[in-house]
Amino acid sequence: MKLILLGPPGAGKGTQAQYLQNKLSIAKLSTGDMLRAAVASGSELGNKAKDIMASGGLVPDDLVVDLIRNRIKQPDCANGFILDGFPRTLGQAEALDKMLKDQAMEIDFVIELKVDDAELTQRISGRYSCEKCGSGYHDNFKQPKAEGVCDECGSEKFTRRADDKAETVAERLKTYHKQTAPLLPYYKGHGVLVSVDGMAEIAEVTRQIDDIIKTKEKII
Ligand code: AP5
Ligand code: MG
Repeated sequence: MKLILLGPPGAGKGTQAQYLQNKLSIAKLSTGDMLRAAVASGSELGNKAKDIMASGGLVPDDLVVDLIRNRIKQPDCANGFILDGFPRTLGQAEALDKMLKDQAMEIDFVIELKVDDAELTQRISGRYSCEKCGSGYHDNFKQPKAEGVCDECGSEKFTRRADDKAETVAERLKTYHKQTAPLLPYYKGHGVLVSVDGMAEIAEVTRQIDDIIKTKEKII
């Protein structure tokens, strides 16, 4: 199964990608996570991406396309993958089409998570994650079962993202509407776009995505 999760900042792409990775045993490819790892390591890519990410803009297409091109050749992607946060521009979408074609692969579904802008800021501002395994949590919507202890790995260290400040979130939303939203008609034209109600509770969004995946499993 090859899936793209498409939606604005805070729509729940990472949350649902984590669920799908476990359910389908396929790789989760998050360009945001890869770029944050590059920034943390102080690599050349990280140095190029750091200020752009902090301002809410997009890292140049060639850099993220190279990241994904190298990543989908890895053995753990042979069974499929979930793309979280890529592609984000028409240029990236076209580059992805080409690299998939070269490897005789195709996308099964592009799943749009539809969420109103007003809801997104609230979600992002309360977000934090486990420093060790990256599992995501939220002050109001998703707390660890035992206070201060990660459900997945038991770590007691958590972190908040540098670009989750209110003014940066507003910029990230603008960037989404201008540069990423045009991918919706693009993928509709390719016949692979499906939309879910991302305003629903996390478990309900997951259920809607499960229903979409089942339609393919029935065909196969
Ligand atoms: P990236 O890391 O991809 O960030 P983003 O797209 O802005 O999205 P987020 O990760 O903030 O949100 P999400 O949709 O994953 O939501 P989440 O599940 O966490 O990119 C960061 C930056 O990197 C970009 O701005 C750009 O600079 C750069 N970049 C990355 N990819 C790039 C690319 N391809 N090209 C160029 N530049 C690139 O959920 C949010 C919160 O809400 C969580 O706390 C969660 O628990 C909660 N939540 C989730 N679902 C629900 C629900 N249904 N109801 C209530 N709460 C919910
Ligand atoms: Mg994310």
